[in-house]
Amino acid sequence: MSAHSTGKRISVPDIRARKGGSPIVALTAYSAVTARLVDPHADLILVGDSLAMVEHGMESTLSATLDLMILHGRSVMRGSRRALVTIDLPFGSYEESREQAFRNAARVLGETGCTAIKLEGGAGMAETIAFLTSRGIPVMAHIGLTPQSVMTLGGFRTQGRQEDDWPAIEADAAAVAQAGAFAVVLEGMVAPLAEKITAALPIPTIGIGASARCDGQILVLEDMLGLSPRVPRFVRRFGDLGALAEKAITDYAQAVRDRAFPGEAEVYQLKK
Ligand code: KIV
Repeated sequence: MSAHSTGKRISVPDIRARKGGSPIVALTAYSAVTARLVDPHADLILVGDSLAMVEHGMESTLSATLDLMILHGRSVMRGSRRALVTIDLPFGSYEESREQAFRNAARVLGETGCTAIKLEGGAGMAETIAFLTSRGIPVMAHIGLTPQSVMTLGGFRTQGRQEDDWPAIEADAAAVAQAGAFAVVLEGMVAPLAEKITAALPIPTIGIGASARCDGQILVLEDMLGLSPRVPRFVRRFGDLGALAEKAITDYAQAVRDRAFPGEAEVYQLKK
């Protein structure tokens, strides 16, 4: 079967049309297993490069590779049929030139069958975003706290704490919208700034640690399920699956030690 989906997925124009309307539900997923859980409820699934840290235990998102993103993207596509799937372009795969960005974004779309890519950066990436969108590649932008620039930002700091910093961030938002991004993630910024940007932009804003007034929200699935050992302060936990999993594994280990398995007694009886 082709990697491309034929079913009726939520489309880029569907998401754009939600500007100022009912909030867009977005979550990350990295595999078919989690995509199957998320798909019935989410409008947009992001295969985020956060998978480098959350799924692979790496120190930062900087170590994610294009091949890794494609592998997980294919898995998520197999586990979903409704949500619009967007895949992160990882660090180093798009910043060098707009041609490099096109080549790698085309690989992501072609090899996974996903609908869109996301890349980090504001005004500095506007030319690349325009190049991609004018050639048929839908782009979701990502501004504010951009984890791929954590070295330059000097850590995971909330952006816009000083009002003097607002104009540059507002200019980033305006630039990516003008360049043709269909939506923009606003990460880790003070709420009044996120609200101002949301009111000013013609495209939907998707907040994470920004403001409840954004046009939608996104969280890392494992963070909100209670599976991540450490989470950013803004994350609201909607479950405690870590504790549930620990209990199930403990029970299993005890059952093994107690030889409390049905195998011989029930399942593997010889037919009489
Ligand atoms: O990589 C990621 O998961 C993201 C979201 C947190 C927006 O970029």
